[in-house]
Amino acid sequence: MSNIRPADMERITTRELADKFIEEQIKEIREQVGDGKVLLALSGGVDSSVVAALLIKAIGDRLTCVHVNHGLLRKGEPEQVIKVFKEEMGANLIYVDAVDRFLDKLAGVAEPETKRKIIGAEFIDVFAEEASKLDGIGFLGQGTIYPDILESDGVKAHHNVGGLPEDLQFELVEPVKLLYKDEVRVVGTALGLPDSMVYRQPFPGPGLGVRCVGAITRDRLEAVREADAIVREEIGKMNPTPWQYFCAIPDFVSTGVKDDKRYMGWAVVVRAINTVDAVTAEAVEIPWPMLTTIRDRIIAEVLGVNRVLWDISDKPVATIEWE
Ligand code: XMP
Repeated sequence: MSNIRPADMERITTRELADKFIEEQIKEIREQVGDGKVLLALSGGVDSSVVAALLIKAIGDRLTCVHVNHGLLRKGEPEQVIKVFKEEMGANLIYVDAVDRFLDKLAGVAEPETKRKIIGAEFIDVFAEEASKLDGIGFLGQGTIYPDILESDGVKAHHNVGGLPEDLQFELVEPVKLLYKDEVRVVGTALGLPDSMVYRQPFPGPGLGVRCVGAITRDRLEAVREADAIVREEIGKMNPTPWQYFCAIPDFVSTGVKDDKRYMGWAVVVRAINTVDAVTAEAVEIPWPMLTTIRDRIIAEVLGVNRVLWDISDKPVATIEWE
């Protein structure tokens, strides 16, 4: 398959077209891979999930998925990957608990791009280590989609510090590389993936690592993970939902008062934006009752947080993420 989408290629908008695409890809994957084995880094994002589901259909247990938990994933994500792929689809899934390894490497590191580099490099190391334990792998599955090819100089490329190991000399299997995101989603649904995976909002590769502002500490990381789950649940009730909505936890203290005593806690920032391409973005108006529910839940449920802020900044001049 070339890297150029033919001008007359029909957009996959219906279940019927998705089923046809799936059938064709299964055939192509089988032709490419023969009786070989494929390795795939499965983050749980829509692109890698759709590739995993396609490969499972095409080659079954000759696919090995590796899910690296770097400790910076959102609440419930590793559990969902295991449930959907291992338990429901019967995938050959290696779950790597690398939480301590990543957090130890990141300890005391406050500079955002250095954090990104550490996370990217560590991911490659963990993945390469897992790959080296396996015998007979000849192919590497990848969730490349068409905008990744078109925008190799764009926002995503600029941010994606890691990518996958170049020194792993595997032939690539990229079954969705000519599809746009909306088409990948239609295919994902046709493959039986849950909506919560298929319609997941964009999530940066370094994950909560760039939302736990400054030097990451385990307690603040837990706080932002819990607060983020509340924000996703509450703002997820909007119709339509914003393009991206999440929490960040700044690295300053916030004074609280309880039983007439002052104490040091943290502030959590709620952010919701709409955008077309992530190059510019507008803060989304969130109804006041929804904001106060979020505030009340975060204060009641998230240990250490005593202040909730709403970020109304547009991009430019503020970026979408806090760092
Ligand atoms: P910014 O903060 O630059 O974000 O306005 C634009 C979009 O990119 C996402 N983002 C990242 N994605 N790795 C990624 O894969 C990263 O390091 C990264 N940083 C930001 C951000 O969530 C937004 O959608």
